[in-house]
Amino acid sequence: MICLGIESTAHTFGAAVIRNKEVLSNIKKSYTTESGGIVPQKAAEHHVAEFDTIVKDALEKASLSIKDIDLITFSNAPGLGHTLRIGAHVARSIAVLHDVPIIGVNHCIAHLEIGKLLTKAKDPVLLYVSGANTQVIAFEGGKYRVFGETLDTGIGNFIDTFARYIGLGFPGGPKLEKMAYLSENYIRLPYNVKGMDVSFSGILTKLKRLFDESKHKTEDLAYSMQETVFAMLLEVSERAMAHCGKKELLLGGGVACNTRLQDMAKKMCEERGAECFVLENQYNVDNAAMIAHLGLKMFKAGVRHDIDMPIDPYERTDDIEVSW
Ligand code: ATP
Ligand code: FE2
Repeated sequence: MICLGIESTAHTFGAAVIRNKEVLSNIKKSYTTESGGIVPQKAAEHHVAEFDTIVKDALEKASLSIKDIDLITFSNAPGLGHTLRIGAHVARSIAVLHDVPIIGVNHCIAHLEIGKLLTKAKDPVLLYVSGANTQVIAFEGGKYRVFGETLDTGIGNFIDTFARYIGLGFPGGPKLEKMAYLSENYIRLPYNVKGMDVSFSGILTKLKRLFDESKHKTEDLAYSMQETVFAMLLEVSERAMAHCGKKELLLGGGVACNTRLQDMAKKMCEERGAECFVLENQYNVDNAAMIAHLGLKMFKAGVRHDIDMPIDPYERTDDIEVSW
C-alpha cells in the first residue's frame, strides 16, 4: 500500500510518501523567525503558502502521482489549532478529490512508532524532547502512557527562550550546543525534578540573572544549562525504564538532535545494561514520514476514520486506545 502523510502540528509543514514500511520521500519546510517566537496565525499562513509545493515535491521524489496514493494520513493532534487545521484541510481535500480513505494520527505516538520502524527497538521508553513537548512515554496496559513530563514549558522552547535572551536567533538549540562544547566549567543551577516530572522556568530565571550579571562566560552558561537539564531528563527516563522493566531507550523530538544529550543517554543505558536508540535527524524533528507510517499501521490493523475526523489540539497520548 502507498500512503501519503501530512504533518502540521506546529511550525513545520511536511509531506511524505511511504510504500508499506519503506520511506520513499520525506519533505518539509518550517516557518522560522529572526526574533520572537511562533505566531500561530503566521505559521498557518506559511503552511497555506507552502503545502502545494511540499506535497508535489513529496510525490515527485517518490516518482509517483497523486493517483497512486491508497491512503492519506494526517497529524490531527496535539498541536496548534491554527496549523493543525491546515493539515486537516489539505488531507481531507485530497481524500475527497481522489476518493481515498483518511486516518488522523497522534503526533507524539508517531514519534515513537517511527523509532520502532527505523531502529531495532521493540518496546522502548521514548524520551520525547521537542519545542513544545517534553515527555517520557512507554507502552503499558494497552496504551502509550506518559510517565513523566514538563510542568511548564517544553525543553526546546526553554532552550530557545534562553538563546533569544542572549541574542542568538531561532532556533537556538543548535547554536547553544556548539557553544557548550567550548566549556567544561560547570556553574551550579537549580535541578528541578519533581517526582517523575521536570520544570524549567526556575532554571531560565537563574540563567537570565547570571547572564545579566556578566560574571560568567556565555559558553559556561550554555554548558551548565545542557548538563543540568539533560541530567534531569535522563534521571526521569531511567526511573521510567526501571519502573516498567524496559531495556530500551529511544530519543525523539528536535532536541534529540543534540549530540551531548545523545552521549549522556548512551552512557546511562550502558551503565544499566540497556540499549539506546538514536534516529537520523530528519526523523527526530517533526516529519511526515512518521505520520504516514503510523496511519498506515493503524489502517492495516482495521482502524477507520471519517472524512471529518476532527483535530484535537489538546489530545493526551494516553487518550488513544492502541489496537494496532
Ligand atoms: P513539537 O510540535 O513536536 O513540539 P517542534 O515544532 O518544537 O515540535 P521539533 O522540530 O521537534 O519541532 O523541535 C524543534 C526544537 O528542537 C527547537 O526548540 C530547537 O531549538 C531544538 N533543537 C534542534 N536541534 C537542537 C540541538 N542540536 N540541540 C538542542 N536543541 C535542538
Ligand atoms: Fe514533534
